[in-house]
Amino acid sequence: MAGKIPAHFIDELLNRVDIVDLINSRVPLKKAGKDYQACCPFHNEKTPSFTVSREKQFYHCFGCGAHGTAIGFLMEYDNLGFVDSIEELAGKAGLEVPREGGSDSGPDYRPFYDTLEQAARFYQWQLRKHPDAGKAVNYLKQRGLTGEISVDFGIGYAPPGWDNLIKQLGQGDKQLERLRVTGMISEPEADKCYDRFRDRIMFPIRNHRGQTIAFGGRILGDGKPKYLNSPETPIFHKGKELYGLYEARKALRKIERLLVVEGYMDVVALAQFGIRYAVATLGTATTAEHLERLFRTTNEVIFCFDGDRAGRDAGWKALETALPHMRDGREARFLFLPDGEDPDTLVRKEGRETFEQRIIHSTPLSSFLFDKLEAEVDMDSLGGRARLAELAKPLLAKLPTGLFREMMQQRLAKKVGLETHQLGNPPANDTHKPRPPLRKKQGAQQTLSPIRRAITLLLIKPELGQVADIPTEWRDFRAPGINLLSQLLEIVRNQPNLRTAQIIERWRGKPEYSHLEKIWSTATELPTPESGMEMEFRGALQRLVEQQHEQETTQLLERVSTGDASEQEKQRLGQLLSEKQKIADLRRRSD
Ligand code: UTP
Ligand code: MN
Repeated sequence: MAGKIPAHFIDELLNRVDIVDLINSRVPLKKAGKDYQACCPFHNEKTPSFTVSREKQFYHCFGCGAHGTAIGFLMEYDNLGFVDSIEELAGKAGLEVPREGGSDSGPDYRPFYDTLEQAARFYQWQLRKHPDAGKAVNYLKQRGLTGEISVDFGIGYAPPGWDNLIKQLGQGDKQLERLRVTGMISEPEADKCYDRFRDRIMFPIRNHRGQTIAFGGRILGDGKPKYLNSPETPIFHKGKELYGLYEARKALRKIERLLVVEGYMDVVALAQFGIRYAVATLGTATTAEHLERLFRTTNEVIFCFDGDRAGRDAGWKALETALPHMRDGREARFLFLPDGEDPDTLVRKEGRETFEQRIIHSTPLSSFLFDKLEAEVDMDSLGGRARLAELAKPLLAKLPTGLFREMMQQRLAKKVGLETHQLGNPPANDTHKPRPPLRKKQGAQQTLSPIRRAITLLLIKPELGQVADIPTEWRDFRAPGINLLSQLLEIVRNQPNLRTAQIIERWRGKPEYSHLEKIWSTATELPTPESGMEMEFRGALQRLVEQQHEQETTQLLERVSTGDASEQEKQRLGQLLSEKQKIADLRRRSD
């Protein structure tokens, strides 16, 4: 366990980081009075009720109640743990996170970073000075790499011989131990050790701060293994790291998109041709951790694979891994290259512009998904289309709740044919609801349903019942508490002068009485300032209308699919679906 982060440091960090800049880098904000606003990233909405205050260094959504500090925002939006959020902010502010000492203070990895830094410098130096460097330089030249790009990526050369690095760095037991832990030496038997990397082109793998954490070494020419990589070590987990991400960040002011390729050479060649946003997984399939890291950096990720069978299979695997990460606003696409080409060879052949056209016109996740499944079934037969639904449903169920998921479901419904097939909706996927924030009390607020929130607000401020354009018609909305809310609304609208205690008194002796009393007695903890209550109240009602529409849509889809729907019901369904589409379009345009 690492030592505790001292409270004074967290204070200092929040002093240094401006929440407006932080949030603006992820969710573009517009100035509104002295605060800033946007459509809330934590729930779907048409009109912005997400407010960020520079003065308070706090954000608050009047629509869904999400709120918190810069740290809380990172935890929710970037899906980070508390410590990782602090690390991320500290990195931005150029601060080192201190740890309180004591028995539980964690291992100190600094010596390992130092050792690898020394190794990287040694290899770079050898590429210039070693008597055999000529053949390494020639190899790089023959691969078309310029000296400039080699320097950018810190490329070096591990000379032939068993103990160059050991001789250079490993004097003394301590240094030897560090080389061992960082995977720089091999040890076939006790008392026998030698350099892991010999006579290879060396690619340092750097973490988000630019520290070298591992190496990949390529043989010059043919031979096996073509690449040798550092093993897993305390500071290198290849399922998490992306080669080239640090270099992309360094080269670009803003990373609009990331292209995920397979090889070191692909990243370097693309960079040389001005495509500085390529990263590579390190000989592994794309993991969930990669996905989070990618989408934390940008909203647009393109996966690039060979066009052959193996490439398509790898692409499909990446798609499956990506599905749970496809929150609204994120975009994933797939680029399959012509047979026998990789990005390195292709960009050299056709140049930056043509290659970038490929990236721009790559296949959206939705098309890749449906095209692949449709190719597996006979879309001309009823049975084939039913099979499509069967294949697609578990995949769509992996998507987080949101508009994208709904649109995918609609697309599937359309393809399957609503009249002939029933298309039950998978259960709501709650994994991307805002996490409970730091403190318990806030956590309770965060999870309030819109009904509960509306009731609470009405009890605190019954005048809210007078707010114009309250939707009075809930149709056949079924949700716990909806009747109570309707009755409450009716009372406060008809008798505007009643005080809360009097209102609650109406329910004495009924089962709702104790609910209302409990809500009222804890209601003072609502974090909303007086001035925001009306907005929050409207937000809750708006959310209810949306929920009602969702429920009605599902019911109508079911009736249409069983052939029981009347003309009127079909019309209503069309209306509901086009409304959803409009919301989706609006969001896309505002992204
Ligand atoms: P490739 O063979 O496609 O790499 O393997 P590449 O970058 O195109 O290699 P060049 O162009 O021949 O130099 C893709 C990735 O798989 C891992 C490496 O990370 C490599 O970049 N790999 C490949 C290994 O780890 N070991 C190997 O022996 C081969
Ligand atoms: Mn290659």
